[in-house]
Amino acid sequence: MITVALPKGALLGNSIRLLKSVGLDFSAFLDSSNRQLQIYDPTETAKALLVRTHDVPVYVEYGQADLGVVGYDVLREKKPKVAHLVNLNFGKCRMSVAVKESSPYRRTVELPPHGRVASKFVHCAREYFQNLNLPVEIVPLYGSVELGPITGMSEAIVDLVETGKTLRENGLIEIDVLFETSAYLIANPLSYRLNSGGVNELISKVREQVLSAV
Ligand code: PRP
Repeated sequence: MITVALPKGALLGNSIRLLKSVGLDFSAFLDSSNRQLQIYDPTETAKALLVRTHDVPVYVEYGQADLGVVGYDVLREKKPKVAHLVNLNFGKCRMSVAVKESSPYRRTVELPPHGRVASKFVHCAREYFQNLNLPVEIVPLYGSVELGPITGMSEAIVDLVETGKTLRENGLIEIDVLFETSAYLIANPLSYRLNSGGVNELISKVREQVLSAV
């Protein structure tokens, strides 16, 4: 039996569609009335766990899941001990620095030393500012990060930008990009090495499916 950790939220639909294309049906997770957190594929060859996106690598690293689908942004932030197997080419967005449109800053290096930067991605943000040799205080938030500059708590944010709509509607502008991100198929290193439950066959099918879609 193969166990796959699937992320709640924006990546779920594409993850389920991809798994369906390689013969595993976890579409019950897309039913809004569903409250089950663990479901079996009808063929009973695999099961899926529905977890918060930041928890996907945790289940995979600890071996409760053989495989998982998660954004590269989360992998950069948490640096879990998992195998990064396939770039799935969906969930594409970028990790960016943004400020209030009305602020005088148009490049990250213009931000004031010892200013504040709000982010859900504190490690990514810290590493980025350290590399720029710009000492700032990273303020950890868990959502609605855009409110940092709006309320005056921080000069800037580091957050994911996909369409840019959230920034626009909150009077913020992107001034720098840390990195591009998209969804990845990850594996527990031991499951991968030992081919637990025939996981390598499933990985090959996913790889073929992704390549054929390019
Ligand atoms: C992400 C991100 C932005 C938004 C960007 O939030 O934190 O707020 O999406 O998307 P856009 O550029 O297309 O507007 P998400 O929807 O994941 O919710 P969260 O803030 O609760 O994590």
